Amino acid sequence: MYFHKEQKVNLQELNCDGTILDIGGGGEGVIGNIFKEKVIAIDPRRDELEEALEGPVKLVMDARNMDFLDNMFDYVTSFFTLMYIAKKDHKKVLQEMYRVLKPNGKVMIWDTCIPKPFVEDKDIYVVQLDISTKDKNIKTGYGTKWSEEKIQDISYYIKLCEDVGFSILDRKEGEIFSIVLQK
Ligand SMILES: C[S@@+](CC[C@H](N)C(=O)[O-])C[C@H]1O[C@@H](n2cnc3c(N)ncnc32)[C@H](O)[C@@H]1O
Repeated sequence: MYFHKEQKVNLQELNCDGTILDIGGGGEGVIGNIFKEKVIAIDPRRDELEEALEGPVKLVMDARNMDFLDNMFDYVTSFFTLMYIAKKDHKKVLQEMYRVLKPNGKVMIWDTCIPKPFVEDKDIYVVQLDISTKDKNIKTGYGTKWSEEKIQDISYYIKLCEDVGFSILDRKEGEIFSIVLQK
């Protein structure tokens, strides 16, 4: 495993008024930790959802093909989830996010750059995070397969999001990045 140096994520000022769909909301379930019962957390892995704290409604569901009707949510969030999804499926996931969002609804994406593999024998890329929310600090690491196929950065996602029809409201660039989109 290759451990990238720890990155800070400040979510202390994060505000969402309305319903939130969190894709890949298992594991630490950071968005569910913050907004609790306002969140519907979906994840295809039951064990990951079971691990996440109580509060959100948890549903076993794949973001590539969601069972929700159109125009349901005020927000859709992806907190270090797209890095776990194959690139060939990213457009489909973004199209699904667009579909289930209400008109003018917002998407918030946090993710990491994954560089071209530069160390031999390291096939997992781990981004280590120090996340601060209003009431706690969470230290965690998210690791994904590290291969040429996984290379990604913010420009890759901006292009995809624009292709799907989103407007880009905000972006924060760096080794980890965040993007705010509007339908
Ligand atoms: C490790 S978590 C990332 C962090 C998580 N969002 C959190 O707050 O801790 C990534 C999750 O994405 C999920 N995932 C992978 N493919 C997915 C898909 N197609 N749809 C939704 N979730 C997916 C994984 O099962 C995993 O639980």
